[in-house]
Amino acid sequence: MKKRLFHIKSFGCQMNKLDSSLIASALRDNNWTQGERPEDCDAVIINTCSVRARAEEKALSAIGRIRHIKKTKPSLTVAVIGCMAQRMGSELLAGGIVDIVCGPAQIPQVPNLLAKTIETKTQNIATAEKIRSRPTKNQHDMLDDFERTYDSDTDNIPSQAFVRVMFGCNNMCSYCIVPYVRGPEISRPPQTIIEQIKKLAGNGVKLVTLLGQTVNSYEYKAGGKTNCLADLLEMASEVDGIEWIRFVTSYPSEKYFDRICSAMAALPKVCPYLHIPAQSGSDRILKAMNRRYSSSQYLDLLGRAREAVPNIAIAGDFIVGFPGEKDEDFNATAELLKAAEYKNCFIFKYSPRPGTEGHKQLTDDVPMEIKKRRNVELLAVQKQVSGPLSEKFLGKTVRVLVESLSKKPHLNQSENQSHPQLVSRTADDWIVVFNGPENLTGQFANIKITKTAPLTLFGQLEQ
Ligand code: 5AD
Ligand code: SF4
Repeated sequence: MKKRLFHIKSFGCQMNKLDSSLIASALRDNNWTQGERPEDCDAVIINTCSVRARAEEKALSAIGRIRHIKKTKPSLTVAVIGCMAQRMGSELLAGGIVDIVCGPAQIPQVPNLLAKTIETKTQNIATAEKIRSRPTKNQHDMLDDFERTYDSDTDNIPSQAFVRVMFGCNNMCSYCIVPYVRGPEISRPPQTIIEQIKKLAGNGVKLVTLLGQTVNSYEYKAGGKTNCLADLLEMASEVDGIEWIRFVTSYPSEKYFDRICSAMAALPKVCPYLHIPAQSGSDRILKAMNRRYSSSQYLDLLGRAREAVPNIAIAGDFIVGFPGEKDEDFNATAELLKAAEYKNCFIFKYSPRPGTEGHKQLTDDVPMEIKKRRNVELLAVQKQVSGPLSEKFLGKTVRVLVESLSKKPHLNQSENQSHPQLVSRTADDWIVVFNGPENLTGQFANIKITKTAPLTLFGQLEQ
């Protein structure tokens, strides 16, 4: 049978990248080959994100570009999958460009949907009708099997893999679309997760990152026993070949928090890294966001994490310009950011998402110029925080896992002409750039830090 070519483009978070890599692997098993350029392919798959309006605009322009290709190649099959597919559903089919719409929980159906669409020349849609109801056991088993069968390290950075430990989210933060496109929280059985990690380790994976929208609320009950993330970390630590384990993203909640910190302290393979978004430092705004903590409770959690794991690196997320955010709320956010001493943080401008409580009940009343200004100001404060943290590494030797060739020529090339520049990361997620042989990619190395910038360390390879 003739091999068909597919092209897949992914927007958004790590979950989406993982979904795309599972689909790519499933398609390769079904007689498809991955193509570089959409115009050379029989099918184009666009995996979309809905978290901010900007992400959806990017996906819509990608569909717009495909429109041109489809004009000269009408046989091209176009699938829009992921969060925006779930949110917009059949609306996407209207323009006559898109043939398939498939939500995040239906991705195991992608190979069949493509086959059916090509054979019958019909448009097909697979999305959840009632996204907040728990999927049936059968649907869920399908997702779990898909994950187990197709998880591979081939599309990722060498020696690294992502493993989803749970689907969905139950938190209902008032700004967030995720619960409405990825459905309720469901933890995967620890046995399947560990089996998958063993398989990945057998394929040479050294670092696994456990993924969940609120990964620290992982909880699996079976046979009278409840497993939490701390148990999973312990089990994953026992897998031979795995050297580092990370988990993202954590929600600031009491449940299991101390147990997870103790596991991090006790298990050498668990990286001392916590991504735990605060979103705001103003208690009034946190309440309006439906986050279930105050700024002081949040800082108390960080304090306990640092007590348990003194060398821990903490990262965060903030939203600026949430409805009703006044200067004093923003100042409280800047204060929290300083007090939290983040290694780094991600800052986003509030974007109202249709279907969320924020969109229904609040007016997007902070002007764009103010959102932009607060974004820039917060980044500047973070730079002041990160600077001294990175300087502490000067003269020290750190162990890194090498990721890839550097895309940007950070270092003065004349320092070492014979080797290219490589990008690597420490266990606590600091980016380290150095000159070294390309075959170090996917390997561990020791680097002596000679220069620092707020978000990046520079150094020399130690032999
Ligand atoms: N507007 C802006 N940022 C958002 N995020 C989630 N929803 C929105 C929104 N509507 C941010 C949060 C979250 C990160 C993944 O994206 O900070 O932690
Ligand atoms: Fe969205 Fe809040 Fe769930 Fe994170 S915890 S995915 S911000 S609803």
